[in-house]
Amino acid sequence: MRVQLNAVRLIVALMAALLLASMLPAAWAGVPNKDAVPAYAEEQTMLQVEGDSRVRDTGFGNATSGKVHMDRHYLGQYGTKEANVIVQRGGNTWRTLRNGPIALATGTILLVVPFLIFVFYRAFRPPALEPSPTGRRITRFNGWERNVHWATAYTFIALSITGIIIMFGKNIMLPWMGHTVFSWVAIISKYVHNVVGPLFIVCSILMFFTFLRRNFFNRIDWQWVKAGGGLVSHKHVPAGFFNAGEKTWFWGGVVMLGLVMSVTGLILDFVTFGQTRYVLQMANYLHIAGATLYMVGAMGHIYLGTYGSPGAYQAMREGSVDENWAKAHHALWYEDVKSGAAPGGGVRPDAPPPVAPRPGPTPGPAH
Ligand code: HEM
Repeated sequence: MRVQLNAVRLIVALMAALLLASMLPAAWAGVPNKDAVPAYAEEQTMLQVEGDSRVRDTGFGNATSGKVHMDRHYLGQYGTKEANVIVQRGGNTWRTLRNGPIALATGTILLVVPFLIFVFYRAFRPPALEPSPTGRRITRFNGWERNVHWATAYTFIALSITGIIIMFGKNIMLPWMGHTVFSWVAIISKYVHNVVGPLFIVCSILMFFTFLRRNFFNRIDWQWVKAGGGLVSHKHVPAGFFNAGEKTWFWGGVVMLGLVMSVTGLILDFVTFGQTRYVLQMANYLHIAGATLYMVGAMGHIYLGTYGSPGAYQAMREGSVDENWAKAHHALWYEDVKSGAAPGGGVRPDAPPPVAPRPGPTPGPAH
């Protein structure tokens, strides 16, 4: 019990550290960024302009303060319109951060996490389909729920693959593909990403309303948290339709990260609404941080929905689960289904209806 609690604490601490680390670059790139090393002569001039500026900052209490900060970020007079700005100092800061430490941190996280999941699986793999199936099935997800889930999942996978190509393609694909092929791969990825993004938002909204009611936390969820979900001990903790882990994925992933990705994605996707380059750069930092956390979370979700919890995948693929699986993994929901308090179609035998033998070709006369 203590080992599990420590493991949960460690995971929570690691996640908090990851979140903080992913936020750091955005803070570091704050305006004005005094530590930025000038890369060009133009930038040197810009730093000079900033230093010489006689426009006083109005202070944090004043609504115009942010605007002064932003406008100072551009080469030109204070108050210059974005359209007249030829070189923007923040652009270089963004470029060096995005291609340097941010890409390194993101790439490392995206490689290390699947490796850690694999190590976890080797150390604490659950027994195959335990308890043994009865052959009696309970409906868990109806057709609409499954379609919404898979539409969100497929759009998410498309965005993850194309997003990774946009971000790392130049480093990992261009060298062996060459410029001609890679330019096609990159442009197709970009357009797919731009179009699938809004579709993903629609799917996420449908997902939110479809599963909201079953995702409110209640007191019993605390038991699941205290037992670390039984992921290490393989003990079954009583849970309702969704357990605390699934609810955390709903609120932290679908809702919070979904919001971050949607808002920043729309800012990046539709650039004709007057957003400045500075806003685009900030949206990009947040988009990358959100994407990294979301992809890492999805890896955990996929593991727990397949190898980490045998029997769970069938629920989303076919819509039903075995009675014993429901009893072990979601005991409170199982009781509700049995008493008729929750829909689930009751418990029914899984035996397929007898299939009449198909009439085959009539054997010809023996020779
Ligand atoms: C939730 C899943 C998503 C993931 C994993 C994801 C991932 C990424 C990644 C890794 C990048 C590359 C960032 C860079 O190279 O600097 C990117 C860029 C971008 N994303 Fe997303 N994204 C997601 C959702 C969205 C949504 C919902 C939209 C739009 C509504 C969107 C629109 C964009 C745009 C416009 C870019 C910039 C492409 C460019 O460089 O021209 N993304 N995304």
